[in-house]
Amino acid sequence: MLAVAILAAGKGTRMKSCLPKVLQPLAGSTLVERVLTSCSGLQPQRRLLIVGHQAQEVQQQLIDWQGLEFVVQQPQNGTGHAVQQVLPVLEGFDGELLVLNGDVPLLRPSTIEHLVNEHRSSGADVTLLTARLADPTGYGRVFSDQQGRVSTIVEHRDCSDEQRHNNLTNAGIYCFNWKKLAAVLPQLCSDNDQGELYLTDTVALLPIAMHVEVADPDEVNGINDRCQLANCEALLQERLRNHWLKEGVTFTDPASCTLSEDCQFGRDVVIEPQTHLRGCCNIGDGCQLGPGSLIENADLGHGVSVLHSVVRDAKVGNEVAIGPFSHLRPGADIADQCRIGNFVEIKKSQIGEGSKVNHLSYIGDAQLGRHVNVGAGTITANYDGVRKHLTVVGDNSKTGANSVLVAPIVLGSEVTVGAGSTLTKDVPNGALALGRSKQLIKNGWQ
Ligand code: UD1
Ligand code: CA
Repeated sequence: MLAVAILAAGKGTRMKSCLPKVLQPLAGSTLVERVLTSCSGLQPQRRLLIVGHQAQEVQQQLIDWQGLEFVVQQPQNGTGHAVQQVLPVLEGFDGELLVLNGDVPLLRPSTIEHLVNEHRSSGADVTLLTARLADPTGYGRVFSDQQGRVSTIVEHRDCSDEQRHNNLTNAGIYCFNWKKLAAVLPQLCSDNDQGELYLTDTVALLPIAMHVEVADPDEVNGINDRCQLANCEALLQERLRNHWLKEGVTFTDPASCTLSEDCQFGRDVVIEPQTHLRGCCNIGDGCQLGPGSLIENADLGHGVSVLHSVVRDAKVGNEVAIGPFSHLRPGADIADQCRIGNFVEIKKSQIGEGSKVNHLSYIGDAQLGRHVNVGAGTITANYDGVRKHLTVVGDNSKTGANSVLVAPIVLGSEVTVGAGSTLTKDVPNGALALGRSKQLIKNGWQ
């Protein structure tokens, strides 16, 4: 039997933020959600999240996590005090309690599994994760013998000068025998620099305490301030880019691009400088993204190019050229071989195969057929001040420059709209529609 408790009640004073620390974003997720994900594979019987500072915000963010139990710690009197709150919740529980700091977001699931397995096979009362850090500043120091038995943990601020030379640090990840821990938790005292109850002090109270050292010290980065947050973001981004470089994606300037973990790429995708992919993106073979583009929650077919453009919550078919300076907004659905050009904004609209919207247009709430040519400056006037209305344009129709299609309106197929027209009525198939005042010439006016 395994229960997990994640410590997420602290304020995160050093972040200097209105947001609770564990909700700070990291590579498209939040610190606490990354920690939750890192232990999901263990399928624990119980999952407890200890909340306190801005508890409501934290609970709200995690409302979709099935089976997550919230335990409130009020006030926040240290990590030991946080785990004391679990005592009534896990009364009678017989098994291991895995405790994870909510601000240690880079752990690999395999590392946590290894810790739990080592703990089970050694029969220790507690097994904790440690790392040898080149710069251990700020971390608790772990004092242990050659066999990996831990005698005590001393927080950085409580260490003597000599103790600070020890670079074996506490990662804040522990596997406890719950019954043994429950017996010593009430004995904690706040005899330390911060005057708090430290979970780390239980280690000296338990007869058999062991530690397991991580192979990759980067995994145990704790986040206390925005420098550490930025370093973790950089580390994660590098992990992601290296993964995709090995999978056949080219980055011409990797350090200037960012990805989210929910991105998938085909072969021979080229990502040019200053290009960012967020949320869930599926990018087909041979796409050329950037320079200077933002792509979020988008599906792109193969051979799509996106140049200096923003694509959000949109779907794009094969061999489509987007940009420079296009903006595809939620619900844009672009079929194969379309061309979306300079200063064009498309929202909640279907653009049929081979159609072109090349210059200076707004297309909203519209359905365009195949091989439609939208002239420069064509606008769908979709909003009457109260409601949005639909514009429909049939196959092979063309609109002249500077046309306004006042919705609701249906243009048939093979329609031609004269330049500068403002159309308010439907147009039948094959017709020419003109909606502008006649040109007046006054000879000899000067
Ligand atoms: C803690 C460890 C330290 C370790 C480091 C690893 C203690 C006393 N020290 O230090 O040995 O090297 O993590 O990153 O445990 N929290 C609560 N309630 C509280 C206080 C904190 O839930 O009353 C939560 C915080 O939200 C955070 C976690 O516990 O997620 C760790 O707290 P933090 O104050 O960051 O501890 P560190 O000083 O980093
Ligand atoms: Ca911390």
